[in-house]
This record gives sequence, structure tokens and C-alpha cells, in this order.
Amino acid sequence: MSDSTDRLPVFPRDFLWGVSTSAHQIEGAVEVRGPSVWDVFTAEPGNVRDGSTAVVACDHVARYQEDVALLRDLGVDAYRFSVSWPRVQSPGGLDFYERLVDELCEQGIRPVPTLFHWDLPVGLDWLERDTASRFAEYAATVVERLGDRVTKWITLNEPAEHTLLGHALGTHAPGKKLLFDALPVAHHQLLGHGLAAQALRAAGVRDIGIANSHGPTWPASTDPADVEAAEFYDVILNRLFSDPLILGEYPEGIAELMPGDVSADLKVISEDTLDWYGINYYQPTKVGAPGGPDDGSTEFSGVTLPPGLPFSVREIEGFPVTDFGWPVVPEALTELLVGFRDRYGDRLPPLAITENGCAYEGIDDQERIAYLDGHLRAVHAALEAGVDLRGYFVWSLMDNFEWAEGYTKRFGLVHVDYETQTRTPKASYRWLRDALRTHRA
Ligand code: FCB
Repeated sequence: MSDSTDRLPVFPRDFLWGVSTSAHQIEGAVEVRGPSVWDVFTAEPGNVRDGSTAVVACDHVARYQEDVALLRDLGVDAYRFSVSWPRVQSPGGLDFYERLVDELCEQGIRPVPTLFHWDLPVGLDWLERDTASRFAEYAATVVERLGDRVTKWITLNEPAEHTLLGHALGTHAPGKKLLFDALPVAHHQLLGHGLAAQALRAAGVRDIGIANSHGPTWPASTDPADVEAAEFYDVILNRLFSDPLILGEYPEGIAELMPGDVSADLKVISEDTLDWYGINYYQPTKVGAPGGPDDGSTEFSGVTLPPGLPFSVREIEGFPVTDFGWPVVPEALTELLVGFRDRYGDRLPPLAITENGCAYEGIDDQERIAYLDGHLRAVHAALEAGVDLRGYFVWSLMDNFEWAEGYTKRFGLVHVDYETQTRTPKASYRWLRDALRTHRA
């Protein structure tokens, strides 16, 4: 465990340091926006671990100035937040983002909005192709208002998780349990990315990224059945999203499973749509052949997987785990980044880590310091290996509504008392602030 920053390696001068949040998880102020699929999902008993909702969350819409002051004192260059599509649909909804962006600019912090972080307006459905076009119209509306002050944009957050958890397994909104019939959701989000990128380009944007979740997949053994199962998992969770964006093609066997002929869409998805590629990294996954210890149905991120899948997720032993039970494996981040470079070579745009963080209780959060210390070293090792990596964003600025886990998991550098809305910087906040100062010296 490290509590000093002087031994952290030195990062390039222009490396972009930031923290991330998302609208639904922090904003509150539901009375001045339309409903999203997450409002419907949380209202249904049993869907959220502690039965909570994000009606108030961190009350960020009312307290954004205090939160921007925390960002300023932390010393980050950039703040990744998301714009709530249902808020933008409501009269005056964009005003809040104008105020937020103005405040950030005034405090010298670069705004980096994500246009979609899972809070789809009620009435829209990613199973429908038309949602991709609606997303592009919405992107055009937002860039028209904010494009004079915002230059760096992210289209989607984690289309893989939104497909898997929201539409295949049903543990996130909109709660659909379609298994492999959820694949069109992946395609339509990717198409939405491409069309939204066109809208941003038309408004003159030259700095477009995406934030995708990725992690190395480790076969449970060298047994060919385990290796094959791990490859399948890697295709479904990693390459299904990165290959079309970076190479303009789906992994072998996937295009046939998508709705209709997708060849023209693949051009829209990949041609001039990315200036950089954002990776959200939390953990590696160990995967083996189906029929693991529990008769084929195993746990994945707290979710019980249904039987009958062509793989099983196995426990990774020998590493510390977070309060989420996720193994802490910093070296897997280096492996992931180097693996991206090796796989995509010259086709790979510059990378950034758009999320990385951990759930731990407590304000004296030494585990989070150790986590960040380890992962920053892992990022640096990738830089030394020649990976073109331009930035790193911690998830998250403050504790917030952690989706199906409600308020039971705390990912913040800043503690939030949900009764009083008091913000208290944790030990990790001070550690990161000191680390950033050292690196600017
Ligand atoms: C990511 C999500 C983010 C947060 C972290 C812990 O998958 O993008 O909103 O929930 O996990």
C-alpha cells in the first residue's frame, strides 16, 4: 500500500487527467426532466438492491458549483460528465448544461460530455433502428448549444454493458432478458455512434471519442474447450464493439446475427467517427467451457448467469477484491492496452482511460489509494511499451447511485452523506490532488 506520491512515475506533460460521473447517477432534479428507462426500472420493486432511486441522488443540479469547486481543488484538467437525453427533451433542459459548462470553463476545467450514459428517454428503444437516428438528432441539438465552449465529446458510454445487462440479462434498465436476441441493441448503438459523429462533424467537432468497457479475457486453462469459450466471450464483450469501430467489420460470424445487411452501416460506424478511443477498465474475466461448478449457471458481477450459455465465468483467485467482489488486477490494464495496440496496429486511434476505479467504504480509503497507485503504474507501463495513451479519468468524483446496487457501493474520491448531501473529500482525493501537483511541478 502506498501513501506517498513521490515514487509514482512521471507522465507526459500534456497527459489529460480527469474524473468521471454520469447524469442519472448524480443529478437528481427529476421534476425538470422527462422520465428515462432507469426511472421506470428503479420504480419496480426488487430491481435495485437497496430499493432506492436516483430521484435525489447527489442533488448535483442544485449543487453543481460546489462540485465544480471540488474538481478545481483536486486539480484535474478535465471533467467527464454525461448529458441526460430526457432532460434535453424537456423545456429549458439544456440550460443546466450551459451553466455547468460555463462554471467548468471559468474554473479552468475542460468539459468532456458523454451524450448517452444509459438513461434513455421512455418511449425509445435501442431494439429499434430508428433510435440511432433520434440519437443523432439529439446530438445535433446539444452540440448546437454547447459546441462553442465544448470541443471534446464522447458519444456513448459502454454499449457492451448496456446491451448485456440492460437487454440480454435484464439486471439493468430497461430490464429485458433477451440473451442473444439482444444483439441488435449493440448494432443500433454503434450505428447511433456513427450518425451522432456525423452530426458532431457537421458542427465542426474535431475531437470525438467513445467510452467502451473492456477487459482481458483469460481462459480458465489451456484445455481447447476453455480456450474456445474464452475466445467466444472476448468476441461478445470486447471485439463486437471495438472491431466495427476501429476496423469497420464485425468479428467472424457476428454480422450474420445482426438485423439485415449491415455492410453500409459499418461504414457509417467506422468512417471518420473517432479521434480517440476511450476505455473503461475495471477487471479481467476468467472464462471456461460451459458447465462450471454450478451446473452451467455462474456468477458474473453479482449477476447469476442463466444456464445454457456457451461459456462460464470463473472466479479469479489470488488478488484482493473490492466491495463489489471485483478482483484488483492492475497488470491486466497494461495487458489490455498493449493488446489493443498489438491487435489494431496503425488502425488504432490514440487511447484514453475514460473510467477506472473501485468500490470501497470509508473516508480513510487506503484501499482506493493502493488501487489508483497500482493502476497508474499499469498505465505508465503501457506508455513505456509505446501505447499512444493520452489521458486517464477516475471513476468517480463522488459516491453516487450505482445502478442496480443503489447506494450500497461507493466509488467516489469524495464521500457523499445522502441524508445531508454533505461532501467530504476522502484520503484518496487528497492523494490524487498531491499526485497531480507533483506531476505538474
Ligand atoms: C461502469 C459505468 C459507470 C459506473 C461504473 C462503476 O460500468 O459506466 O456508470 O457504474 O461502472
